[in-house]
Amino acid sequence: MSDRAEPFVIDVDTGIDDALALLYACAHEEAQILGVSTVVGNVPLAAATRNTRAVLRLAGRADVAVWPGAPTALSISVRDASEIHGKTGLGHAVLPEPEEQAGALHAVDSIIAAARAHAGRLILCATGPLTNIALALMREPELPRLVKRFVIMGGAYAEPGNVTPAAEFNIWHDPEAARIVFRSFGGVGAAPVIAIGLDVTRKTIIDEGDLAAIASRVAGKQHASALTRFLEDASRFYFERMEKTYGRRIFTMHDPLALAVALDPTLVETRRAAVDVETSGRLTTGATIVDWRGQWGRLANAEVAVAVDAERFRRLFFEAMDRLAEGAGAT
Ligand code: BDR
Ligand code: CA
Repeated sequence: MSDRAEPFVIDVDTGIDDALALLYACAHEEAQILGVSTVVGNVPLAAATRNTRAVLRLAGRADVAVWPGAPTALSISVRDASEIHGKTGLGHAVLPEPEEQAGALHAVDSIIAAARAHAGRLILCATGPLTNIALALMREPELPRLVKRFVIMGGAYAEPGNVTPAAEFNIWHDPEAARIVFRSFGGVGAAPVIAIGLDVTRKTIIDEGDLAAIASRVAGKQHASALTRFLEDASRFYFERMEKTYGRRIFTMHDPLALAVALDPTLVETRRAAVDVETSGRLTTGATIVDWRGQWGRLANAEVAVAVDAERFRRLFFEAMDRLAEGAGAT
């Protein structure tokens, strides 16, 4: 672990792209991963927790604590995203059953404890619905003043949604939680929400050629075969879904981009604005509304990503996979 390592907590609903985000984090020495909290979203909580442990083990980081969190959304319980991520959440990939972690702490307690223990230094990155973070805010309203940086994958700001015409999945899955989060962050002395929405994640795409290039570059390295098999099997499911819907075999790097921005905010250009969430629209539940013109007269609570250096991000992702194949994650 490098001397400059920054304390880091990741909140996930592991799914295929959450898995890639976790792999990216494990390849970065500058991230001192204190723990990974899990939440219902793409798949039920138990599956998200199991997938998280299995992916950390694949990355050589079975030592990282996994903290199970909310099993249901705060608001109406809606559907999962198994049509995109597969029944297990990891597409066609089959990973060895990870070991249970005895006495696992609860996500909400653990996020609060990490923020207090590393006040002013903690980086928090959420790549699932915001239920755990909202629950943490109810218990510790100072959370936005304790964290150094808070990055989410969530929202569609000047773009159509992906789960409805108006809403992106993570916000739509628990709009009440998202509203609590946006209304709590930002303001004087508090971290803003760094919002990585579909506006930028849709610009960060990999395809089968990219995965083949990783596989041929790392062939023969110590951890290459398990890693490349996982990347191929997990993403193949996603490619199949995208082909059916959009006619293109592409993988949109939603969660890996958010994770990369948490480690290096210069990857995106942001605009400061007030953001709120629609919780009870007839057609728009889960929409993220941005007050670009300051018409609400509210303080800005978010840095909304409006542009991304997609090529630099792709390069960083490929380099991270190369390092993992060499055993970078192994402790
Ligand atoms: C988000 O929804 C989930 O299905 C993905 O894991 C990602 O976090 C994209 O809308
Ligand atoms: Ca996710």
